[in-house]
Amino acid sequence: MATVDLSNFVPYELLVDSKTSKIVKAGDIEPTFSTRKLLDMKDVIYDQEWLVSLKENFDLYHMYRDLTRVEDKELFQKHNIRFDVTIIPPKFLGKEFVKTAGHFHPDAKEGYSYPEVYEVMHGKGLYLLQKPKKELSRKEKKAKVLNPIEIIVISAKAGDQVMIPPGYGHITINPSEDTTLIMNNLVSSSFNSIYEPIKKQRGAIYLYHANKTWIRNPFYKDDKILVKEAIPQKIADKPFYEAFLENPEQWKFLNEPWIKEKWI
Ligand SMILES: [Fe+2]
Repeated sequence: MATVDLSNFVPYELLVDSKTSKIVKAGDIEPTFSTRKLLDMKDVIYDQEWLVSLKENFDLYHMYRDLTRVEDKELFQKHNIRFDVTIIPPKFLGKEFVKTAGHFHPDAKEGYSYPEVYEVMHGKGLYLLQKPKKELSRKEKKAKVLNPIEIIVISAKAGDQVMIPPGYGHITINPSEDTTLIMNNLVSSSFNSIYEPIKKQRGAIYLYHANKTWIRNPFYKDDKILVKEAIPQKIADKPFYEAFLENPEQWKFLNEPWIKEKWI
């Protein structure tokens, strides 16, 4: 059995079977997971021709929530923070690389949706962040104010950390033909994600084509786009789990985003 050892990132032995893309050891934790299947994502798949030609549904990725040791549970709970692991094996969804369903987070307070931080543990990830258009006033509409959809694409490899600031919906793509993407995240445990807007728009404004170029989603016909450059940043000087144990207060912005000034 080929296993991927991720024990450098957490304070317990963490092993993933690269054949099944499932966790086979997580210290003393009995891991539970949910699986996103292809047909759960039928609305956000670009290549609908391929989708209808398929005979059967299959697993896309596995999500392990609250992968915390028994002795750390109370500390995570006290701070309303969750530590999750997601495993996305390489795959093509017709003409595009495999991706997550994509979602937004609700507001923690008006104008401040909950942020999130990701850490790549194995493989590579493309993080596509997308901020919707503003609601324009009648005056602004008349003046034809440019109202672009803002996007940020961050390419991250093992060890890299990625910030999802408030206001951005986000999807993760595994841009590799042969390597599984395994990532963890710290996020507030006080909300449920919102999937509807991205579903309604049939995915994000761009998708990552199998020929390794970005393709515009035709559903967004006339929208203007503002592309912002960003690279992974050191959010913590050590792996997230360890950094949380050392100083949980450092992660307060995940529940109170208004206390943080600079995001990206
Ligand atoms: Fe999220």
